[in-house]
This record gives sequence, structure tokens and C-alpha cells, in this order.
Amino acid sequence: MPSKELTDKLVKKISNEIYSSHFYLQMSLDLEEKGYAGFSHWCMCQWYDELSKAIKLMSYCHRRSVPVKLSAVPAPEVTWACPRTAMEAAFKHERAETKGVEELMTQARMEGDYATEDICRWYLSCQIDEEDEIRKIHNKIVLLNDDKNGLMFVDKELKEREAPPHHHY
Ligand SMILES: [Fe+2]
Repeated sequence: MPSKELTDKLVKKISNEIYSSHFYLQMSLDLEEKGYAGFSHWCMCQWYDELSKAIKLMSYCHRRSVPVKLSAVPAPEVTWACPRTAMEAAFKHERAETKGVEELMTQARMEGDYATEDICRWYLSCQIDEEDEIRKIHNKIVLLNDDKNGLMFVDKELKEREAPPHHHY
């Protein structure tokens, strides 16, 4: 079983993933209310993605005999001025998450816990993909330079993201 310090960090990471999902859910609601159906859909897919990552880590903890006690989910920011500021907030959020995974990985490496180091590597690679995807969306918006038609085109494009299974929206 991992040390107390590593265990605490693993459990905290689960709560962070749940917060991430909550963050994107709120973003999805806000962007839907502002008329951006595609951005909203993309965020809803991201909500599911983050929740799946929390569940994956819960399962890992149980396989390592680490009990999981969840903490309260903090309320996320509730509104963003436009898709551009939303994507900026998302990028900032993911950068912080990446840092968190790196810290967890450092602790695992220090303790010689190779299994945790290994799963951290998977999370790290997910983080790099997420940062890259958000960066690309943000770049497109910046290139449009407030062109509303272009923004609607990006919105349509984001609607194409594969929906999570069993979605009812
Ligand atoms: Fe994420």
C-alpha cells in the first residue's frame, strides 16, 4: 500500500478530477445559455471525460487497498463573458491540473512506487492532450478576431465532438 502522504495525494487527485468535471459542467450550462450549442456540447463531453478519470483513479486506489473518502466539491466560477474567456479559464485550469499530476508523480518516484508512477504517466499524457486541444480551440478564436460568423463556424465544429455514451441531452 502507498505511504500516507502518497495516499492523501491520490485521494485529493480524485476530488480534483470531480471538481474538474463540475467546472466543465458549469461552463457547458453557461455557454448553452449564451447560445453556443457547440461549445456547450464540447464542455459536456469534457465533463464526462473528467468524471471518467476520477472513476479510473478510484478503481486504482481500491486495487492498491487505498480507502477513498471524498471531500466537498468547491463551487466553480459560474459565468464567462464569451467562449474565448471560457477557453482561457479552461487552459489555466488544465495547466494547474498538469502541475498536480507532476507533483503526484514526483512523490511516487521518491517512494519507489512504480505502479503509481505509471498511472501518473497516463494522466500526464491525458493532460498534454487536453492542453493541446484547448490551446487549438483558443488559437482559432483568437485568429477570428471577433468575427461572429467565424465563431459560429467553430461552434458548429465543436458540436462534432463524439458524445459520451448514454447521453440524454
Ligand atoms: Fe482535465
